[in-house]
Amino acid sequence: MTAEGRATDGEALAGGMVNAGAVLRRGALVERPAPRTARALHAHLLALEEHGFDAAPTPVRLTEDGREQLTYIPGDVALPPYPRWAMTETALRSVGELLRRLHETSAAIPVDTCAEWPRALADPEGGTMLCHNDVCPENVVFRDGRAAALIDFDLAAPGRPLWDLAMTARYWVPVVDPASAAAFCPAGPDAPTRLRILADSYGLSRQERAELPAVIEQATTACRAFVADRVAEGDPVYTRALSERGGWQRWDRMQEWLAAHQVVFTTALLDDRPRG
Ligand SMILES: Nc1ncnc2c1ncn2[C@@H]1O[C@H](COP(=O)(O)OP(=O)(O)O)[C@@H](O)[C@H]1O
Ligand SMILES: [Mg+2]
Repeated sequence: MTAEGRATDGEALAGGMVNAGAVLRRGALVERPAPRTARALHAHLLALEEHGFDAAPTPVRLTEDGREQLTYIPGDVALPPYPRWAMTETALRSVGELLRRLHETSAAIPVDTCAEWPRALADPEGGTMLCHNDVCPENVVFRDGRAAALIDFDLAAPGRPLWDLAMTARYWVPVVDPASAAAFCPAGPDAPTRLRILADSYGLSRQERAELPAVIEQATTACRAFVADRVAEGDPVYTRALSERGGWQRWDRMQEWLAAHQVVFTTALLDDRPRG
């Protein structure tokens, strides 16, 4: 193998947990382990581009050793503890708008039903649109304080658009108890207000606003199961992160807090009064 072909060449990119240390930048390209669905995913990413969505990496090729190459998207990616620019209202709005654009385009592309889309963070109720499912700060590239692109479609799977928005809300509002939020974000965020901003910028319907808090609870259960599976497999990155962030007690606390705040979130989402 030539020096160029070695997976160890290139600059390792920080930010991910699943592929920690294995995502490399080589000039204009990123090379990373290819997900099992890479072929179907690359076809979907190319279709997004053909339909005018310009805010995701362009797939370039699959390598013989099971990796994939995609275009590198210049910009800033927020890593925890998240910097202030990532948690501004402008940033939050831009994430809602970008997710809406992704969904409008994705909805026009038939899902490859032969692909074995990962179930890990997929909508348990299924759906006809390919959702991203993992729009966390580490998977959004910003430019000038606004979300410019989504990366890391490894967990994409068919689902309801509302499911993808619920997942996004968990990370970006974030819809977690204040003690958990404080560990990641500067300045105590007002979760109901920020959830409303996300829903408004996405253009969420009234019916879906009424459903969103319960879907966030469902999404939280799916995220907990995702971590539990990684830990049960003996994954060192997830095992360490779980213990550093307060163990299962933190998940219990997040879920109890969510259940106790359903009405507060529903009220904030449906309130007709103009915001001051
Ligand atoms: N196409 C890309 N353009 C720009 N940055 C990228 C790209 N792909 C990955 N990165 C950077 O590398 C980090 C890890 O990559 P990612 O594919 O998200 O790995 P993981 O699957 O471990 O989450 C991201 O958080 C981001 O900072
Ligand atoms: Mg990632």
